[in-house]
Amino acid sequence: MAVNTEAVAIGGSDITRREFLNYAWLASIGVLTAELAVVTYLFSYPRLAPGEFGGPVPIGSWEALPGLKADPLGFNRSKFWWIVDDEDGKGKKVARAIYKVCTHLGCIYGWKQDQNKFICPCHGSQFSRIGDYRAGPAPRNLDRFLIRAVDSSGNEVARTDEEGLLDLTSPALKGANLVVETGTRIQGKPKGA
Ligand code: FES
Repeated sequence: MAVNTEAVAIGGSDITRREFLNYAWLASIGVLTAELAVVTYLFSYPRLAPGEFGGPVPIGSWEALPGLKADPLGFNRSKFWWIVDDEDGKGKKVARAIYKVCTHLGCIYGWKQDQNKFICPCHGSQFSRIGDYRAGPAPRNLDRFLIRAVDSSGNEVARTDEEGLLDLTSPALKGANLVVETGTRIQGKPKGA
């Protein structure tokens, strides 16, 4: 088949039609690739406003938050409960940030003060004040978020352990502010574990 090599004048120089089409094709591929890179970047790094669910949520000093025996404090926009308890009954206080979504099928459960437990309205799963499974179809304890303690320069001085517990008796927490990382979820233990 005969190839059309008719010359086209561009910028004072002659190139063939085939060369022109090749350049145009390469340019369009380049533009498409750049657009894809920008979209991927924007998708991978969502811009979260401070305190928004999915990112770090500063909650200040733990000393200004509810302590032992207090009802869980709900952070509705950030989807967690702040809870302090006496883990061993000997004065060791630990804090948790518990995800507000039920581990059964994802409903938002509620705190029932008169029963001292959380109850899910969808299928009746129940959890203790510290998020441990008690009854119903939920397969595991409630999930927790990572909590970090930072000093005035923003340097991390402490964080929750692998179970999502923050030791409030640690001297490192003196004067520190807490940040709940709602993008880092620690899955609750299976019921009966
Ligand atoms: S979603 Fe909570 S019990 Fe089913």
